This record gives sequence, structure tokens and C-alpha cells, in this order.
Amino acid sequence: MGIAVLVIFWVVVGILVVGVAMSATKKPNDEEGRSRVGTAVFGLGVAVLIVVGLAVLPAWILVDNTDADAKTVGGVHLNDAQVHGRELFAANCAQCHTLRASNAIGETGPNLDTLRPKAALVLDAIKNGRARGGMGQMPAGLLAGDDAKDVASYVQAVAGR
Ligand code: HEC
Repeated sequence: MGIAVLVIFWVVVGILVVGVAMSATKKPNDEEGRSRVGTAVFGLGVAVLIVVGLAVLPAWILVDNTDADAKTVGGVHLNDAQVHGRELFAANCAQCHTLRASNAIGETGPNLDTLRPKAALVLDAIKNGRARGGMGQMPAGLLAGDDAKDVASYVQAVAGR
């Protein structure tokens, strides 16, 4: 989206510059004085546009992109709680679980992209832990309260995407 804005912006500037160059050559002699002032004013306008194009637009697009990267994962838009949950997942869960949205490749526990657990199941696993006698165990109480809820909400939103 940002790139499209930038391209359209420069195309418009280009058309304006070509347009003025062509109209300047067509002006009859008696209008030369007026057209020179007009060209000067126009030149100033183009200069301002170029400054906007070089400085303001790229900065704006950068800010825009940072925001998009932080909040949209695998096409899922995350709310603030889920963004928080994502940070907690990286610190507390990623070493044991695979979850593509977090670039997590842990293998001790089940692959969450395959399991696609509902938030309630995630909350229960965090609260009570898991030790069904398989190859690994998940300790109980890794997180509590809102932290646990945020991770559960995040996992439900992104698992399998
Ligand atoms: C030390 C490794 C480890 C960590 C850290 C860990 N898990 Fe687990 N997790 C496991 C294992 C092993 C299992 C399966 C255990 C079993 O079934 O006996 C499991 C199971 C699960 C399940 C499936 C529960 C079910 O009933 O099928 C979910 C959901 C889960 N973990 C989420 C999380 C979340 C969220 C975190 C971070 C807060 C986390 N895990 C941290 C190892 C871990």
C-alpha cells in the first residue's frame, strides 16, 4: 500500500513537470513576463512536492509499516492483549512448542499449529500443566492472571495460520 502511494505521488510530480515544460514552449512572446512568474511559482510548488516526496512520505510509510508488522501476524490482526501474549509466548512457551506465527520450533510439546487449541484449553494447560507420561512434561503455573489469558487469546488467534 505504502509503495503504491509513493509511485502514484512521483508519477503525478512527473506529469506536472512535463506539462509545464510543454506549456512553457507554447507561450507567445507577449505573455512571457506572466508565464515566467507562473513558472517560478510552479517551480516552488514542485520543490515543495519533492521535499514531501523525499522526506515526509518515506518516513510516514516506515511508521505505517512498523505498526503493521507488530500487529498483523499471518494475516491475523492482533489486539493489544494478543500482542502482549505474543511477547509472553516467545519468553515462556516457544522453547517447547512449534508455532509458526512466533517462529517457534520447539519439539518437547505438541505442535500448536496442528493442535489449534481453543483459548480455554491453553489456559487449562498453563494452569495445571501437563504430564500424561509422554516424552515431555509441561510445568503448571508458567503464567497466571491476565498474562495467561493474553497468551491463550494469542495462541487461539494465530495457531494454524
Ligand atoms: C518445558 C516445555 C514446555 C513449556 C515451556 C510449555 N509447554 Fe506446553 N506442553 C509441553 C508438553 C510436553 C505438552 C504435552 C504434555 C502431555 O500431554 O503430557 C504440552 C502441552 C501443551 C498444550 C496442549 C494441552 C492439551 O491438553 O492437549 C498446550 C495448549 C500448551 N502446552 C500450551 C503451552 C503454552 C501456551 C505455553 C507457554 C505459557 C507452554 N505450553 C509452555 C511442554 C511445554
